[in-house]
Amino acid sequence: MTKIPCNNMGTYNGRRSKFNFTQFLAIVITVMFIITVVLTFNLLTSDHCKCQSQDVSMEQIRYIPNKLAPYASPYKLAVLVPFRDRFEELLIFAPYIHNFLNAQHINHNIFILNQVDRYRFNRASLINVGYLYTRSNYDYIAMHDVDLLPLNKNLSYAYPKRQPFHVAAPNLHPRYHYEKFVGGILLVNREHFGLVNGMSNKYWGWGLEDDEFFVRLRDANLNVTRPVNITTGTNNTFRHIHDKNHRKRDTTKCYNQREITRKRDRQTGLHDVNYTISSIKSMTIDDAPLTILNIELICDHKLTPWCDCAEKKPDNKKISITKT
Ligand SMILES: *[C@@H]1O[C@H](CO)[C@@H](O)[C@H](O)[C@H]1NC(C)=O
Ligand SMILES: *[C@@H]1O[C@H](CO)[C@@H](O)[C@H](O)[C@H]1NC(C)=O
Ligand SMILES: *[C@@H]1O[C@H](CO)[C@@H](O)[C@H](O)[C@H]1NC(C)=O
Ligand SMILES: *[C@@H]1O[C@H](CO)[C@@H](O)[C@H](O)[C@H]1NC(C)=O
Ligand SMILES: *[C@@H]1O[C@H](CO)[C@@H](O)[C@H](O)[C@H]1NC(C)=O
Repeated sequence: MTKIPCNNMGTYNGRRSKFNFTQFLAIVITVMFIITVVLTFNLLTSDHCKCQSQDVSMEQIRYIPNKLAPYASPYKLAVLVPFRDRFEELLIFAPYIHNFLNAQHINHNIFILNQVDRYRFNRASLINVGYLYTRSNYDYIAMHDVDLLPLNKNLSYAYPKRQPFHVAAPNLHPRYHYEKFVGGILLVNREHFGLVNGMSNKYWGWGLEDDEFFVRLRDANLNVTRPVNITTGTNNTFRHIHDKNHRKRDTTKCYNQREITRKRDRQTGLHDVNYTISSIKSMTIDDAPLTILNIELICDHKLTPWCDCAEKKPDNKKISITKT
């Protein structure tokens, strides 16, 4: 058995090892120099970034991290998904809708409007926030439930130029069949959503905010249009991935919520939605890029005390629960 020397320098002849050592030194010096240059440059640029970001308030950050698919259409769609605590539905929804929209060559990005405060869910206010965040970069929004997947490829998500387009029409939706229904999936262009002052901020808890939005559209003389020539029906146009036993809907009504939320709200909307975006995250599910807005809504307890039904109310007997 021959011992293989560990120290090569010592075993080869002097000349060769000398040559190697000089070469080695030259390389080390070069590498050190490059590292120094790179580090200095990095420090300078990161300092620069720090100074800038300290001066910029949250409001000014119009940060759209995900690249849009480069389709020929000039219109850009922001898919706005009101969200809380539905991760397993999101895992199905995001890749599905991304592929569905790519098949239609729709330039789009998905925004998850994640409500992180401790108030009751407020779908309409989240959509207002999503609109304000995306309006300078997108031409139209899709107000989109996370649990409703379009199955029929003929359901168009094209730019709704003249009127809002209700994709989840009452004659196609698996569950809601009344004529004034505009929930589920609704496409609205930037100008129209602004024109009606967005949605009401008074709807904490589940339901009715979309019915109020219908009245806003009607008052602005905006008739909702719906898909035509669709050969599928209520049982095979959409897939509803919501498990209503696992995720109970918050249909509680407290204070005078029932009375107030049955009226058209001429008071609140886009202009007074009160919130902070506590952070913005990008993520990818399969190949679908998402932007997550972590949104803290702020409740005006005088105006809408029902943003928290449990709040310091010893006598909760009056709270009634409606099952729909
Ligand atoms: C909406 O419908 C009403 C009644 O059918 C009609 O008078 C009005 O012109 C329509 N508006 C638009 C923008 O098409
Ligand atoms: C729908 O079908 C009817 C009858 O086939 C046709 O006249 C009409 O152009 C179609 N509409 C659209 C928008 O494709
Ligand atoms: C989709 O639209 C085409 C063209 O109008 C029609 O022939 C087809 O039946 C439609 N398919 C479905 C599933 O609605
Ligand atoms: C949907 O309903 C129609 C008629 O009610 C029925 O013929 C069809 O088989 C149903 N389709 C599915 C996918 O359940
Ligand atoms: C938003 O909430 C803050 C904190 O409660 C309050 O000071 C401010 O007046 C509210 N703004 C609006 C527009 O309601």
